[in-house]
Amino acid sequence: MDDSLLRPLDPRLYTDPEVFTKEQQKLFDHHWWLVGRDTELEKKGDYVATTLGRFPIFIVRSAHGQMNGFHNVCRHRAGPIVTKEKGNHPGNLLICQYHGWCYDLQGRLKNAHQLNKHLNHEDYALIPLRVETWNGLVFACVGNQAPALEHWLGEIIDIAKQFPATSVMNPSSIIERKGSTNWKVYGDNSCEGYHVGLVHKTLDSTMNRDEVVLQCHEEDQFIGFDVTYCGSVSDPSRHGKGLWIYKFPGLLVHFSESAFNAERVLPVSAGQIDLKRWFWVLPESHAAQEKLVESASRVMEEDLRICESVFKNLGAGVYKGGVLSPEEEPGTVFFQRLVRNLHDSVGV
Ligand code: FES
Ligand SMILES: [Fe+2]
Repeated sequence: MDDSLLRPLDPRLYTDPEVFTKEQQKLFDHHWWLVGRDTELEKKGDYVATTLGRFPIFIVRSAHGQMNGFHNVCRHRAGPIVTKEKGNHPGNLLICQYHGWCYDLQGRLKNAHQLNKHLNHEDYALIPLRVETWNGLVFACVGNQAPALEHWLGEIIDIAKQFPATSVMNPSSIIERKGSTNWKVYGDNSCEGYHVGLVHKTLDSTMNRDEVVLQCHEEDQFIGFDVTYCGSVSDPSRHGKGLWIYKFPGLLVHFSESAFNAERVLPVSAGQIDLKRWFWVLPESHAAQEKLVESASRVMEEDLRICESVFKNLGAGVYKGGVLSPEEEPGTVFFQRLVRNLHDSVGV
């Protein structure tokens, strides 16, 4: 190996459950995670729920119009307040599904049934979490360490202004996949275009890879790929100007002239990720949305399959570490630097 190449991360760092446990502290305490879109929370009592790391959470629209986020954990004996991924709580009450304690949409305990006279209600409110929105996306953060969402997104907010906002688009499909791989394998892959020619043959035919411009934003921890697509006008996500962004540790956003999508890459365990992607389309491109979602799903599937194979190989113990090219894989070099910083901060 000559000096133009680097060593990639040690294979053990992808497969060791103890490394994952340490990573989790920072991944969930220090970062914002995409939970849904604001149109899923239009009416009073609408809620969306998910699990971020080890934390089951939900976000509900209150009577006053704001979005309130809570851990989905009752203060009596840890029962769940909501049991579906989304829905509406009629009236103004959230009711625990175990023994029926009632909370209002601000999380205040209103009725502990036969136990009311024995406790001070103020001491048993639901445990809140931070909720903020940007461009129609609703984010949650379970820790106090992350900066405000606006600062966490940094320059992404300004860059996005070159493209149509979701407020002028229609919400379209949502796709979800589970993958047997480590979140860092998917991150390594999301940050380079070196694999596109072989893994994404159809995508490759809609873009000129030599003209893709990569920008690494050190401080805001994201990379952007400026792309000019030359695909058919019938697929609005593969025609005209486009921009892919990977924001550490688990957010991908894809802007184009007539559509937008955002993907959450949620680490579940050392060997498991959950992907969820939300789509929006301009009203005039409505007819093309099926094609758009179909081509994006195919690319996601292709990435997932290759990442699953890589993860299996990393765990087999034969591969002891290879090379990484700053010239061909600069985004992955950048991503792995962020991972090393994360590992340094948690003592990996
Ligand atoms: S755990 Fe919620 S009412 Fe008992
Ligand atoms: Fe890919």
